Amino acid sequence: MPEIKNSFRPAWIEINLTQLRKNFELITRNMPAGLKFISVIKDQAYGHGAIEVAKIALEFGATYLAVATIDEALELRKNFSTAPIMIFGERTEEELRLVLDYDFTCCINDIQKANMLANLVTDLNKRPTIHIKINTGMNRYGMRFENAIEVIEHISKMKQLNLEGVMSHFAMSDELDKSFALTQLERFQKVLDEMKHKNIKITYRHICNSGGFLDLPQTHFDMARIGILPLGIYPSKVCRRISGLQPIMSVKCKIAAICDLEIGDYVGYGMHYKAESPRRIAVLPIGYGDGYPRVRNKGSVLIHGQRAPIIGGNAMDATIVYITDILQTELWDEAILMGKQENEEIDVHEIAQLQNSVSYDILTGWSSRLPRVYKNK
Ligand SMILES: Cc1ncc(COP(=O)(O)O)c(C=O)c1O
Repeated sequence: MPEIKNSFRPAWIEINLTQLRKNFELITRNMPAGLKFISVIKDQAYGHGAIEVAKIALEFGATYLAVATIDEALELRKNFSTAPIMIFGERTEEELRLVLDYDFTCCINDIQKANMLANLVTDLNKRPTIHIKINTGMNRYGMRFENAIEVIEHISKMKQLNLEGVMSHFAMSDELDKSFALTQLERFQKVLDEMKHKNIKITYRHICNSGGFLDLPQTHFDMARIGILPLGIYPSKVCRRISGLQPIMSVKCKIAAICDLEIGDYVGYGMHYKAESPRRIAVLPIGYGDGYPRVRNKGSVLIHGQRAPIIGGNAMDATIVYITDILQTELWDEAILMGKQENEEIDVHEIAQLQNSVSYDILTGWSSRLPRVYKNK
């Protein structure tokens, strides 16, 4: 059998690395002097490719690359032997051994985990770097703010661990109502004040995600953790804009079949669309198995710069669109499911609305069977 090198599938994701560089440049220029950033590239940089995004993040001076699982961290380590890598979330004891072996920085959420990690340290010249997570209201990971100081003080004295940072995470930083974010800030600040009072010194204090970075400059502290923003996507409709920032991902395919419907014909599983007049339709070789929401007579794609509505229920591998009005359409013409064509654009937020979800869900939901094509590597 001949060697199979690339995907030849006529459905793919294009990632514009020139625009990614531009986005990082715009964001870093927008940062106040001295503010550092963590490039959050978990879940393959939200579906864009962790390695490709990491390379560019490091070019622009990322202090850390951050992921959520040990496997993601190991993949990064294989490609970046010396880059600082942080793992969010909670670790098992087995994972903590790998944290030590591969020099990852991990988040510590309680005293038990600090003890467990300290007990694994056999060489004080190889102390693991840790950031303590404070739960200021997200109620996911971290130690509660009211009684964190005693644990922080205890951990700061553990000679096996290198306490480098203290962090928290916003539950809502990108909406107009900032009241809870400000409550979280107050709680975080209280812990930091107590640390100062006890003369506990750390290098990095951080609480901001993209929303906090954009809208809450008073919460920047030493470092911002930004994931979605460099991808050219705003975390919400209402947060501050940075002029020139553009999405870097487009989802494309080629029309695999064109058919003519007669009056009374149905389209697709479940017979959700019935032609009331003669109509022309195009079949796209991409479906909900690729990560597009499962829809019925909802959503559209771009063909020749015009919107072609999706008709019927899309299938795992196929989506059918109405093209009667786009007369010039031919077999194997390009269709855009997400992205720009001529003067039209379908953005990730529009697709997210089809299933009452958010942009993060759509970005990470594009399946790995869609090949990623990197432009301008
Ligand atoms: C702990 C933590 N910090 C930062 C981020 C980055 O958030 P965003 O992509 O909104 O910048 C995330 C992402 O969910 C996160 O879990």
